[in-house]
Amino acid sequence: MFTEVTGILSDLNRVLLDAPAIQARVAAMAGAIARDFAGRQLTVIIIMDGALFFVADLLRGIDLPMRIVSMSASSYHGATKTSGVVKLPWPANLDLRGQHVLLLDDILDTGLTLGAVQDRLMAEGTASLKTAVLLKKRREQARVVAVDYVGFEIEDEFVVGYGMDYQGRFRNLPCIGTLQL
Ligand code: IMP
Ligand code: MG
Repeated sequence: MFTEVTGILSDLNRVLLDAPAIQARVAAMAGAIARDFAGRQLTVIIIMDGALFFVADLLRGIDLPMRIVSMSASSYHGATKTSGVVKLPWPANLDLRGQHVLLLDDILDTGLTLGAVQDRLMAEGTASLKTAVLLKKRREQARVVAVDYVGFEIEDEFVVGYGMDYQGRFRNLPCIGTLQL
């Protein structure tokens, strides 16, 4: 589909992870999660919008009963550096007491977003909490958070594609790359 260097793919500086590499790794993560949660009913919490394609591929590979809840958290506000303030509107009527929760996000960068969501989830009386991210940046985190499943570790650079955006664009790229900014 994106074999010719045209359209939005040509705005990339470098492809870090191509579509087959992403698909293979996400399938392996799904297998590991399915094994770890075997016999349990999951509540999956998705942090939108960046995790869109990651969760779509991951969750279809997990053959377990699950309830899926999405929420949005934002700290970037359109720039390529975090603002440091996490906005986290909480879904109404979300009862997590006694639930086995799997928290999913696209990328662990400063750790501020996942840290804020994890704090809130723990305060809600969950029975257990595991966190999975597709990407983890090799950098010092402003907030050190525990993640149980990591797809790929990448260098500390701004990436787009496979759900991740720059000012709302590039989410629909099937690969992940860096931009010519
Ligand atoms: P953190 O709170 O700094 O860990 O940032 C987490 C959120 O910022 C992620 O869920 C992404 O939505 C966004 N983000 C961080 N790094 C990147 C990037 O390189 N490209 C696109 N979005 C990013
Ligand atoms: Mg995000």
